[in-house]
Amino acid sequence: MQTVKTVPELRHAIRVWRLAGESIAFVPTMGNLHEGHLKLVTVARQKADKVVASIFINPTQFGVGEDFATYPRTELEDQDKLNAANTDLLFLPAVPEVYAEDANTVVTVTGLSELYCGASRPGHFNGVATVVCKLFNMVQPDIALFGLKDFQQLTVIRAMVRDLNIPVEIAGVETVREADGLAMSSRNSYLTAEERVTAPKLYEALCAARVAILSGNRSYAEIEQNAWLFLQKFGFQPDYFCVCRSQDLKKAEVDDSDLVLLAAAKLGKTRLIDNLCFSIGNR
Ligand code: PAJ
Repeated sequence: MQTVKTVPELRHAIRVWRLAGESIAFVPTMGNLHEGHLKLVTVARQKADKVVASIFINPTQFGVGEDFATYPRTELEDQDKLNAANTDLLFLPAVPEVYAEDANTVVTVTGLSELYCGASRPGHFNGVATVVCKLFNMVQPDIALFGLKDFQQLTVIRAMVRDLNIPVEIAGVETVREADGLAMSSRNSYLTAEERVTAPKLYEALCAARVAILSGNRSYAEIEQNAWLFLQKFGFQPDYFCVCRSQDLKKAEVDDSDLVLLAAAKLGKTRLIDNLCFSIGNR
């Protein structure tokens, strides 16, 4: 695996592949890689001739008082993992390589970016959309892979690509979970041993809500409230738990059939997010 730190080096490597007629799949990450990230690389491998990954802890998507300074930085281990997963090229830029000091351009996907995680983390999705747009312009991949784990992020990116006519296919990859159901996340390392035991209850709450809906319950407000109380009982501070339409993340109505349950809750100091996407036979 080749590692490059600058945009000219990246562009050179890509140009060589393009001249040879090779297709490119791209997996953007913030590092501290786990099996969820590596699943994206494995799927990328199946989709194109060359796989490019990036590790960039993007300062603009962290709010004041969030964990930018303490976000786990595990570059060497990450490089070994990407190498073992047959990544062709790692783009590992420093902050000034990505953002000019006097940069003035921000990509905002209005509406969607203010909901759910965007409501609790103002500006977060502007940071995500801006850096992903920039990374797409740097790498110019045929396809880019994102985890369904961050469902709202994936929805924001799909909207940005459509609205700005960015010539890239976006593929969503199934959430990789620990044996007890907890969605893998770099932030799980913040959990205390006791919190780690409780953390899978978030997934349990989602599964219970899905069972209720699949067995015919359409009282979505009641389902949301039950999940909220269940999470509080186990010591979570729920942020949101919503039955939504998977297409645009609007609140689901009884006759919607493609649904996503979106949830975020704090457990101690750690903010966990998870979701479940499924269809019901309404059509
Ligand atoms: P990061 O949190 O490092 O995640 C990188 C990619 O891995 C995202 O597409 C995320 O959805 C996916 N991912 C994380 N946990 C996963 C899991 N358990 N199963 C499957 N996929 C998982 O998301 C970001 O970085 C950043 O916001 C980024 C898109 C790189 C922009 O800075």
